[in-house]
Amino acid sequence: MIYKYSGHSGVQLPVLSLGLWHNFGSVDDFSVATQMVVHAFDAGICHFDLANNYGPEPGSAEENFGKILKNNLAGHRDELFISSKAGHDMWPGVYGGNSSRKNLIASCDQSLKRTGLEYFDIFYSHRYDGVTPVEETMQALIDIVRQGKALYVGISKYPPALQQRCYDILKEAHVPCLLSQYRCSMFDPKAKNENFQIAADNGSGVICFSPLAQGLLTGKYNNGIPAGSRAAKSTGFLQESQVTPERVEAVKQLAVIAAERGQSIAQMALAWVLADERVTSCIIGTSSVTQLENNLATLNNLTFSEEEMKRIDNIINQKELWF
Ligand SMILES: NC(=O)c1ccc[n+]([C@@H]2O[C@H](COP(=O)([O-])OP(=O)(O)OC[C@H]3O[C@@H](n4cnc5c(N)ncnc54)[C@H](OP(=O)(O)O)[C@@H]3O)[C@@H](O)[C@H]2O)c1
Repeated sequence: MIYKYSGHSGVQLPVLSLGLWHNFGSVDDFSVATQMVVHAFDAGICHFDLANNYGPEPGSAEENFGKILKNNLAGHRDELFISSKAGHDMWPGVYGGNSSRKNLIASCDQSLKRTGLEYFDIFYSHRYDGVTPVEETMQALIDIVRQGKALYVGISKYPPALQQRCYDILKEAHVPCLLSQYRCSMFDPKAKNENFQIAADNGSGVICFSPLAQGLLTGKYNNGIPAGSRAAKSTGFLQESQVTPERVEAVKQLAVIAAERGQSIAQMALAWVLADERVTSCIIGTSSVTQLENNLATLNNLTFSEEEMKRIDNIINQKELWF
């Protein structure tokens, strides 16, 4: 594994982290989930990304992760960097979602109980909810750290206009933002335009999610929607309508460059996200150990020639491909 310092901090993270949004819930096969976490840890992936609502059922990914920790990784807590988040809808009633202090503090307590952890390494505001003042949300994060429930804080998906304000509030309280989480892939490079630079200028690390566009950038949809894939599942967030002919055609063109590099399209897509020096880590999702192994082999070739980058840009620089 390759490790990188997160922004201007003393914390190193693996360049590939494992996310538990899909495939770790109560609807999924617990033995496969266990194998993936253990295999990841053995390969040096010491950062696992959770959120209160991951499942389905919401909360069940945290419960399952807690069980895996207890059964398989007991004694390794200090080798692990574990995140959770709050801000999306989680429980009924007016306090069960959004980015209020009420929601964040209660949610962090619930997540600690579900995972069986004493503290999270990083706790995020999962999103700006469009209403709650960022002062309120950031103060809740600061207090979560002061209460010993998290070591570091992060923000996820905040628009550029509010991102700077978040960093300022956190810095003033001496709880600097460790990580800023944004979606980024060849099919969604928007965050590279502004968010990454604001993060880098403020000493925050950047961690990218859905680097394979939920599986589109693996070539698995080149001949339709395979059974068992995320787009085929009723619980999957990738919609059939997002598997467009334009995206499939672009993947086929990208596969030519990947083959010349001796990589799978997935490996090249991950390497492309990591090629931006502002990126600390990218969070992959997997539904099998085989996928995880395939993605780990990305580390064998992370560099691109200028010509390769130009050819890739020519393929992906079309707005209709972007999420
Ligand atoms: N902050 C936020 O709001 C936010 C939002 C979304 C995600 N995240 C985080 O980011 C993590 C990753 O997101 P993601 O799951 O969308 O990432 P992704 O890496 O873009 O997609 C993962 C999916 O791609 C397919 N896949 C992966 N490797 C493959 C391979 N080698 N060959 C074939 N198919 C492969 C699998 O889908 P199949 O099921 O089809 O096999 C897998 O579940 C999440 O778990 C979560 O921790 C954060």
